[in-house]
Amino acid sequence: MLDGQWTTDWEACMAPRTRLMKRSVIRELLKFTEMPDVISFAGGLPAPEVFPVREFREACAFVLDEMPQRALQYSSTEGFLPLRRWLADKVGKYGVPAVPENILLTNGSQQALDLLGKVFIGPGDTVLTEAPTYLGALQAWTPYEPRFITVPLDDDGMQVDKTAELLKRETAKFIYVLPNFHNPAGTTLSQERRNQLVTLAAKHNLFIVEDDPYGELRFEGEDIPPIIALHKENTIYLGTFSKTLAPGIRLGWIIAPEIVMDKLVQAKQGADLHTGTFVQMVAYDIASRGILKQHVVTIRQVYRERRDVMLQTMAEHFPPQVTWTRPQGGLFLWVRCPEGVDTEQMLAKAVEQRVAYVPGFAFYPDGRGRNAMRLNFSCMAPSQIREGIERLARVLKNECAAAQAAKTA
Ligand SMILES: Cc1ncc(COP(=O)(O)O)c(C=O)c1O
Repeated sequence: MLDGQWTTDWEACMAPRTRLMKRSVIRELLKFTEMPDVISFAGGLPAPEVFPVREFREACAFVLDEMPQRALQYSSTEGFLPLRRWLADKVGKYGVPAVPENILLTNGSQQALDLLGKVFIGPGDTVLTEAPTYLGALQAWTPYEPRFITVPLDDDGMQVDKTAELLKRETAKFIYVLPNFHNPAGTTLSQERRNQLVTLAAKHNLFIVEDDPYGELRFEGEDIPPIIALHKENTIYLGTFSKTLAPGIRLGWIIAPEIVMDKLVQAKQGADLHTGTFVQMVAYDIASRGILKQHVVTIRQVYRERRDVMLQTMAEHFPPQVTWTRPQGGLFLWVRCPEGVDTEQMLAKAVEQRVAYVPGFAFYPDGRGRNAMRLNFSCMAPSQIREGIERLARVLKNECAAAQAAKTA
């Protein structure tokens, strides 16, 4: 009845923290993946053609046939107990002494990050991250108004000696670390550095948030035990089925000390009461029948081949001034261009050549990394990877030449 006569000033009504919220650069870039002829290395998507669709169909039918009322009902915030038991048993084999009471099922690890922000971060609290780091963590935590301090990476992951230096000058509440096949850098934290990091955290009274979506996707080399296995009381571990099974089911988990668990449960109750009952039961059926384990073997082979094709084509075509990481697993590698190449500006030229990536600045809380980029190798067929890298190489050659000319001018 009052249409057109009176309207709410919605923006003015929004809480100040909403001004800190931003759309993810990556989700914006995902629109390139929808342009038919663009070869996109921008997303972090698992290969859809190997999703275990038949197995999902069977598991859904089994759950609906055997326990329909339970599967479609509300359930506990902590999560489906058999799945939590299965997870406790699984991580126990990696040396993590967890029991179901330490495990909370979440709507993906992304929700776990948000819950941690809600529980631990107040305005002005300092969070120590790697640089670069996972963009989604920055996005989840920024509205809680932390101050980020960062430590650079090298081929062995976070530089712990630099962390020690930084902690002589700064105090922090916790350290956020991606130990395996880092997103975006593709690096893995060595065993020695894991030991050092745990000692350092204990010395400075910090806890560690270990975010590990890719640990099971190792193609070569020896598994390294997770940080939580070194110091259970001082570490919060995040896992997810997104990269090993399917991201669309939105299922992850947190392992934390019981006192933390209690608060996380309260935070999750306010957010969504609990993770979908049906999805947890389906995932449990798939995991407990050994299908997940087999599936991980398959995707490791597929991703390894794709990584190899990407590395080989880069070696053949990228200009010599460009360097990159050589991940032993996971989904991503990190490319560094010479100073003067701006990967954000270069993206438009790359898209003209029908290829896309994520510019490096997106992974730094302070916008550095302007000469770097992240490439994903999991979700394109090898022939497309070859073609896409050749296209990108042509763009890079022009940009490197222009940066060199500007330097000498
Ligand atoms: C390091 C890291 N943490 C968390 C997530 C979020 O994963 P999920 O799909 O479980 O929410 C991702 C997804 O790419 C990631 O790379």
